[in-house]
Amino acid sequence: MSKFAAKAISTLFAVVLGFLATSTMANTDNDALIERIQKVGSVCVEGDACASAPAPSASAAARSGSDVYNASCTACHSTGVLGAPKFGTSDWTERAAKGMETLMHSALNGFNAMPPRGTCAACSDDEIQAAVQYMVDSAK
Ligand code: HEC
Repeated sequence: MSKFAAKAISTLFAVVLGFLATSTMANTDNDALIERIQKVGSVCVEGDACASAPAPSASAAARSGSDVYNASCTACHSTGVLGAPKFGTSDWTERAAKGMETLMHSALNGFNAMPPRGTCAACSDDEIQAAVQYMVDSAK
């Protein structure tokens, strides 16, 4: 083997080694990255220590009656669109006479032109009830 060939081979070897070293380093970076991502989205299975942490309580995030009303009900109930009982009027005195149970049934399932949940599909039953109560309380 000529001196030149030997040098060429050892240079090639060094290049391959260098490449391997870099790709190993890249892998290490990936592992670190994966670990960092996992902490955010790690799965917690019942029985694990992490599962005994208190679940986020739904009621803590529950919106008030006025919040729900302003977001989802005011479009129709402020002006009486399609015959909707108007906020702050005797309309709600009449409706209140039906009783909360009936009003809630209408609010959750819809009633004539009143859409189910007043279009707020994401509202919990409690939030809908708070909004109904808020409107009932507005009766003059
Ligand atoms: C698209 C318009 C519209 C929206 C939005 C809407 N309503 Fe209504 N709502 C109506 C109409 C119209 C009526 C009257 C229906 C009737 O008496 O025929 C009504 C009636 C009601 C009644 C009385 C039902 C009864 O049995 O007399 C309740 C309670 C009510 N709405 C709650 C809500 C709540 C709570 C929201 C918001 C989460 C909401 N509505 C959003 C149109 C709407």
